[in-house]
Amino acid sequence: MKNTFKKNICCIGAGYVGGPTMSVIALNCPELRVDVVDINKEKIDNWNSSDYSRLPVFEPGLENIIKKCRGINLFFSNKIEECISRADIIFISVNTPTKAKGVGAGFASDLKWIESSSRLIAKFAKNHTVVVEKSTLPVKTAETIKAILNSSEPFESGSNNDIEKTFSIVSNPEFLAEGTAIDDLQNPDRVLIGGEDNDSINLISDIYKNWIDPVKIITTNLWSSELSKLVANAFLAQRISSINSISALCESTGANIKEVAKAVGSDSRIGEKFLNPGPGFGGSCFKKDILNLVYLCKFYGLNEVADYWEQVVKINYWQQKRISTLVIRNLFGTLSDKKIAIYGFSFKANTNDTRESPSIKISKDLLQEGAKLNFYDPKVKRKQIFMELDSSIKDDNVIISDTGINAAKGADAVIVLTEWDVFNKLNWRNIYKVMRKPAWVFDSRVLLNKKALIDIGFKVWSIGN
Ligand code: NAD
Ligand code: UGA
Repeated sequence: MKNTFKKNICCIGAGYVGGPTMSVIALNCPELRVDVVDINKEKIDNWNSSDYSRLPVFEPGLENIIKKCRGINLFFSNKIEECISRADIIFISVNTPTKAKGVGAGFASDLKWIESSSRLIAKFAKNHTVVVEKSTLPVKTAETIKAILNSSEPFESGSNNDIEKTFSIVSNPEFLAEGTAIDDLQNPDRVLIGGEDNDSINLISDIYKNWIDPVKIITTNLWSSELSKLVANAFLAQRISSINSISALCESTGANIKEVAKAVGSDSRIGEKFLNPGPGFGGSCFKKDILNLVYLCKFYGLNEVADYWEQVVKINYWQQKRISTLVIRNLFGTLSDKKIAIYGFSFKANTNDTRESPSIKISKDLLQEGAKLNFYDPKVKRKQIFMELDSSIKDDNVIISDTGINAAKGADAVIVLTEWDVFNKLNWRNIYKVMRKPAWVFDSRVLLNKKALIDIGFKVWSIGN
């Protein structure tokens, strides 16, 4: 069949960023063909499934876009070579986790998936290809990608040596947040495009101009774009560690964290967003990106700057530990054989993602103390919870329930760790009836109505209150 599309896009990596981002591009740009490829066959099969509950990413609004575009101008495939060869523009959207071993272990990003993607592009790309860094990367990664691409055979193999392969690199970091990814992509605060040649910058800008006001498109040099992404995440995480540190001070002094956040955030210079206290930030990126920033600072000899940013992560560990410790203390100092219901396993509401979820660390601490945990999360699958808790599981100490009330049966406490709306709609009077007394609610998100729970008979701890 003849390809009648104006341009061909290939995205390497069909994960939380690649899947939703490319879906929104396909929706807004019917004249573009968008191929999303991945080495993970099961993931691609799930993206192609007619059972939409199997889509690898749960995001409000995503399913509708897949229904509209899949098979029209949006394709999910394992045919990496074919899709790269066809592409005019290639987005690299692969994982960049913290390095587990070797130089920089525990801080630097592991760029092995970036390297393998670049090698695939070097081998299979044809003619001129614009390579877009969509993954979050340490500053100067474009140099690494460039070095790999430029080491490829300069002419296409099999051709009669007259079509030269050329590449241009653009940085276009992604700012979507999980749970609101589709809204964030449809109506972003800004789109950031960093590059060295105007033609490539304009080519990528033109894609976004199909649905985004051009005044929101910021263009910079490559290094500013790469660094801005890390800094944006560091600033966001810093606000969370700041408010969480003050939540503890509120508990000690009688101040109320919600009131303090409102009073502080009403200053337009500070702003009201991202001042919700909680069990510490989770998600695959904040910790990894700050640690990466710390590593970069140390690499350039800026040790005080590194220490400053590392403290944001240290406060985050401390907040998680603080919560498990106070649960133990309030349950008479021992959890041996006590049942506890954990409400929420995803790292935030409206996502099925559990990476770095505070629920993991807090649950492990409680299991370590001998508790039996019963989990209820509206979107996280049982297999995922077992996978995350792994070696902490023994002797039936972990149960997964499909309703809040089932999880609470016989429990001494319910701990709310994710701000899922449904937890507010539960019948707390009935939950109280099925629990052992004294029945505790530990609300780490200030989600529930504390007074209503106390009126029912619960003992309640609510963060920063
Ligand atoms: P992910 O793990 O969900 O997806 C990455 C995918 O890339 C995986 O499915 C993996 O199989 C695939 N992959 C790896 N190497 C490959 C190769 N050589 N060829 C084909 N496929 C390959 O990761 P993610 O959450 O989508 O994050 C991707 C990048 O985007 C990271 O750098 C992350 O920091 C950044 N980011 C993530 C978010 C977020 O909300 N998750 C937001 C903004 C930016
Ligand atoms: C975050 C950023 O918000 C995105 O802009 C960025 O693109 C993304 O990281 C990334 O680079 O991966 P995400 O991690 O999906 O997005 O979700 P957030 O809404 O930022 O929440 C992160 C964590 O902070 C969650 O655990 C959340 O519960 C917590 N949080 C957030 C708070 O505890 N308080 C708040 O006020 C806000």
